[in-house]
Amino acid sequence: MPDLNSLKAGLKKLLPKERFEHSLRVMEQAEELARRFKVSVEPAGIAALLHDCSRYLNREGMLKSAREGGYKIDPIEELEPKLLHARLSAKIARDRFGVTDPDVLQAIESHTVGRPNMSKLEKVVYLADHIESDRDYSGVEKVRELADKDLDRAILASIDKMIAHLIEQDLPIFEGTILTRNWLLINNKI
Ligand SMILES: [Fe+2]
Ligand SMILES: [Fe+2]
Repeated sequence: MPDLNSLKAGLKKLLPKERFEHSLRVMEQAEELARRFKVSVEPAGIAALLHDCSRYLNREGMLKSAREGGYKIDPIEELEPKLLHARLSAKIARDRFGVTDPDVLQAIESHTVGRPNMSKLEKVVYLADHIESDRDYSGVEKVRELADKDLDRAILASIDKMIAHLIEQDLPIFEGTILTRNWLLINNKI
């Protein structure tokens, strides 16, 4: 596993200051959740640190990199290229930061919409991104409260908040989000 300090130094050079600081907060939050829910702390911290490492790219840059990488691009991603950033971050974590652990790469890749059968590591990184100390969307306190004891319920609550927000704004809902929500409700019998 690459050394954490050199990853931080590399990331600091790559990302705008605010995005880098967000990444540090997500790392801290992910490490705390990992301890709470008995997930390996080091992979959780690394995945969280690098989860947004493609966010130095603008919309066009994201579309271009995704096309070059031969990604299948959804019409919603075409409309909102930021949705590509999780996949691109996993690619950059591998190619630029030398991360080889497939579980870490997967946790980076699924941090925005989750996926059915997501692992505990993926859940920790997903949730950490949504409850890091600077987040202040309406309902975040409830998600934080749930995150004290139940990863699945906390993720469900954050997905519901996100969907409600998208509906309010007349924005499309990425189908991956719905698949994750259904999986949490049906397979995990929430
Ligand atoms: Fe992200
Ligand atoms: Fe993030």
